[in-house]
Amino acid sequence: MKVKVCVGSNCTLLGAMGILDQIEGLKDIVNEDMDEFDMEGLDIEVVKCLGFCKKTNKKIAPVVVIDDEPIFNATGQTVMEKIINKMRTQ
Ligand code: FES
Repeated sequence: MKVKVCVGSNCTLLGAMGILDQIEGLKDIVNEDMDEFDMEGLDIEVVKCLGFCKKTNKKIAPVVVIDDEPIFNATGQTVMEKIINKMRTQ
């Protein structure tokens, strides 16, 4: 699973670093007892600006893209839910 976290200025101002910390923290939370989750397959990429903020005047930051599916106004909770749900189904 490919997770891109935007750390451009718009997204950083609205909490992107906290979301990134939570995603990286997931690797520590998931231990051997939870082998249903494949943490090796989690590829986290930090991107300066994903370009979405330049295409609209709407408030969409922070933006996280999971397997080419953008999540606008992302929160730690929405991103973590999406990642965990995808891990369960993979
Ligand atoms: S700063 Fe995040 S999409 Fe541009």
